[in-house]
Amino acid sequence: MRDFFPGLAGVPAAKSTISSVDGLQGILEYRGIRIEDLAQQSSYTETCYLLLFGRLPTKPELEKFHADLTYHRRIKYRITDLIKCLPEQGHPMDALQAAVAALGMYYPVQRVEEEETRYWSAVRLVAKLPTIVAAFARIRRGDDYIQPRDDLSFAENFFYMMFERVPNQTMAKVFDTCLILHAEHTMNASTFSGMVTASTLVDPYSVISSAIGTLKGPLHGGANEAVIHMLQEIGSTENVPAYIDKKLHDKEKIMGFGHRIYKVKDPRAIVLQELAKKMEPTEDSGRLFHIARAVEREMGHRVGHKGIRPNIDFYSGILYHQMDIETDLFTPIFAMARVAGWLAHCFEQYQENHLFRPTQIYEGLHNQQYEPLESRQHPTL
Ligand code: ACO
Repeated sequence: MRDFFPGLAGVPAAKSTISSVDGLQGILEYRGIRIEDLAQQSSYTETCYLLLFGRLPTKPELEKFHADLTYHRRIKYRITDLIKCLPEQGHPMDALQAAVAALGMYYPVQRVEEEETRYWSAVRLVAKLPTIVAAFARIRRGDDYIQPRDDLSFAENFFYMMFERVPNQTMAKVFDTCLILHAEHTMNASTFSGMVTASTLVDPYSVISSAIGTLKGPLHGGANEAVIHMLQEIGSTENVPAYIDKKLHDKEKIMGFGHRIYKVKDPRAIVLQELAKKMEPTEDSGRLFHIARAVEREMGHRVGHKGIRPNIDFYSGILYHQMDIETDLFTPIFAMARVAGWLAHCFEQYQENHLFRPTQIYEGLHNQQYEPLESRQHPTL
């Protein structure tokens, strides 16, 4: 029993050169570059290249990568037909997972070890996820799907496909930075689930659809959605102490707080909080931001000493809310960004593959007799 680690907490399951976290100092690096530097100076497209290919691209490399991504933004009409058949009240993460699995049927992968195959799967997945998210968002409200535009940046095009308008430069830059901050984060639950899937040497579309399913959970990517519901439920800064008091007393989690690795404030939450200040607040988002600051202060007094601090999900939801994005699209946007990190880990896994096959400690019965159905009795009858 000494070798049993519930949730594999702290157990190294792979070697990687993609990203690293120092949870005590609050440092996150992609390929050795600090996240704050990337947030300030890079673009999501460039960061994708860095994660996927291990170094920053030269100008011609970046131009080619950008052109390839732009060309592959469109989705087949049969994928939009599939999206039209999905229930409009269903969660967009489920729609995204289904559409990504279906993509794999149009671009079958024979040999995952081929570099060419990996490149084009990565381009298609990074390019098409935003189109799928925007298509589902529009179709479920009865609007027509909007084709992507080649003259727009990655972030501008997403907004255009969602709202039929190009965002201003500040909003496009803030959104692009959000994508950079969400692009990768070492060995978390969704990355691990993608790696387990990749270790069977299945195609990248199946890998990404596995990871999307895992990200949906409220203890992982789904927390950003829960944060907005929580702030709306709190309603005003005066209600914060009583709300936190009750939650902690009832041993319930405050969404957007705590992290397996960070024992200080998540460095991504710090950047996001600054970004929120750059955006023009709406009346509602300004109110939510004030409530969020009050929650952070109260949590700091109450449980800060235990290392329970805001994580990335705490401020990202407020920013997306400020951009008029519907709450249940926050996690799909997280997936749109994280696909870069998932793919980088998937390719690393293919490279040095070892099929994941952990063991278990069996605690059930042995040597039980099979009892015929007619003679079985319910224990309480
Ligand atoms: N609110 C209140 N208490 C908390 C919180 C929280 N958000 N997070 C941890 N704690 C407390 C626990 O109650 C527990 O207290 P105890 O020792 O008195 O029993 C202690 O801190 C340890 O908690 P665990 O859940 O065991 O810590 P773990 O490292 O496994 O949890 C996790 C990490 C799952 C993220 C947790 O902090 C949580 O559920 N947070 C809320 C959900 C959330 O924001 N998820 C997003 C994470 S970031 C991401 O996935 C992108």
